[in-house]
Amino acid sequence: MIDKELLLEKARQAMVHSYSPYSSFKVGAALLTKSGKVYTGTNIENSSFSATNCAERTAFFKAVSDGEKEFKAIAIVGGKNAEIKDACMPCGVCRQVMAEFCDKDFEIITASENEIIVKTLDELLPESFQLRKKRHRAHR
Ligand code: THU
Repeated sequence: MIDKELLLEKARQAMVHSYSPYSSFKVGAALLTKSGKVYTGTNIENSSFSATNCAERTAFFKAVSDGEKEFKAIAIVGGKNAEIKDACMPCGVCRQVMAEFCDKDFEIITASENEIIVKTLDELLPESFQLRKKRHRAHR
């Protein structure tokens, strides 16, 4: 069983390091590998806006560059000035990055002020684009 509260707490802690001088929207993510490790990430903005990296992708790229390629779940929290009110759902680009490394049952955990929301990757990005068949994953 995934400890959702613990993963959300790690995402909240990661949010503190958000570099977001342009939007003031601070996001934290905590990515759980199948081996039980947690990689955190924050959004990192840039004056050339398109160079901004979301918290989710920061967590994925930290993990993958460390040799991790098997993932169970990600917790995401975010809000203006770090005030968590609404659930922070991953953007389309981050969903596509998740689809590169994760199976359909990968869990996306987020929280609003008063509830925890859990979705599978298949719910958030059905029929995702794939250049390789998933069964070739073993060779990655
Ligand atoms: N952002 C994330 O980090 N993750 C998301 O899922 C949505 C948006 C960031 C990007 C930008 O720094 C700020 O939130 C406002 O869009």
